[in-house]
Amino acid sequence: MKLEIDQQGLLSELETLATFSDAEPPAVTRIVFTPTDLKARAWMMARCEEAGLAVRQDAIGNIFTRWDGADPAAPAVGTGSHIDAIPNAGKYDGVVGVLGGLEAIRALQRSGFRPKNSIELLVFATEEPTRFGIGCLGSRLLSGTLSAEAAAKLKDRDGESVEEVRRKASFSGQLQDVKLPKSYYKAFVELHIEQGPLLERAKISLGIVKSIAAPASFRIAIEGAGGHAGGVLMPDRKDALCAAAELILAIETAAHASGALDTVATVGVCDVFPGAVNSIPSRVGMTLDIRDTDLARRDGVMKVIERASQGIAAKRQVSIRWELVNADAPADCAPEVREALTDSCRQHGFPFLEMVSRAYHDSLFVSRIAPTGMLFIPCRNGYSHRPDEYAAPEDIARGALVLAGALAKLSA
Ligand code: GLV
Ligand code: MN
Ligand code: MN
Repeated sequence: MKLEIDQQGLLSELETLATFSDAEPPAVTRIVFTPTDLKARAWMMARCEEAGLAVRQDAIGNIFTRWDGADPAAPAVGTGSHIDAIPNAGKYDGVVGVLGGLEAIRALQRSGFRPKNSIELLVFATEEPTRFGIGCLGSRLLSGTLSAEAAAKLKDRDGESVEEVRRKASFSGQLQDVKLPKSYYKAFVELHIEQGPLLERAKISLGIVKSIAAPASFRIAIEGAGGHAGGVLMPDRKDALCAAAELILAIETAAHASGALDTVATVGVCDVFPGAVNSIPSRVGMTLDIRDTDLARRDGVMKVIERASQGIAAKRQVSIRWELVNADAPADCAPEVREALTDSCRQHGFPFLEMVSRAYHDSLFVSRIAPTGMLFIPCRNGYSHRPDEYAAPEDIARGALVLAGALAKLSA
């Protein structure tokens, strides 16, 4: 079997997909179920149909595209990722796994390979938490990690629920039906940019993921007292933003103090009310995203943060309310998928690094129902979630080639 990746074609598709964006190039913004995202999805489905894949969408908008195997009733082998993009992102996050996955399938088709198990390319719906405050909605539902009832009620910043938004975007059917049976996939493998600097630093072009870090996220509401920026004396203030500032630094200190580089904590949203130059902030709404490869350590850091939060609330006479959005457990990648990736690398003589994924991925949730693995390629300076995110064409093509080899092994 001679596998060849059409690097030029793959690059040109990647550039075209980047034009479906609500940001000025090179930035890409593609928030799920916006008109831009729906156009990108339609374009993507057309590419899959061109490749002869049978396309279907489920009720949350996960796109399944299938190349039937010799035994179509046998569990499928899945690959894929996402094409939604956070505000002011780059062109590679998720997209490399979707277009690279499609090119891997086309390379297998061109080689004359005939899979025994069907091969499916998935485009997961709403991997990014931008719109509904929680990431991986599509894969959470498909794996049964989140209930249909809980998902339907999630709201975007305009107060529109998932249920309303998906119906408006013409996704019919019941969210309950998104869940897949445990035997649906024989294996799943996701190609993705590393989103960190380790491959580049090691000068190694491929990473085989051993485990995926566990994310938790919270919404935090701080309520103090507003008032006139000139009139209210400093000793009388209950400034919600000053409390927020102190809490953000306490979060940073707690993450540093865990003693492990794998503990990371980020406050990425901070909404100040009323947001006027001459008005003391009375309310702040913020988010905390905290991750670790070790669940117990993450829980320990959370305890430290909670204690700090209570201290700050008492000292500053503000209320600080915490609402848990999600607290997920880490996942180990499946030995058989790691082995398929390892064999595929070795077949081509490509060196690889075994590594941890500090970012979360749909694979974290697919791993709850299927043996799952991930393949990383480097991205320049480890940059991701920013417009200058970049992966070299030869690295993308190499990733697609190794993925194709692994899909062949898993579906033979
Ligand atoms: C995914 O985009 C993540 O935040 O890890
Ligand atoms: Mn992302
Ligand atoms: Mn991603």
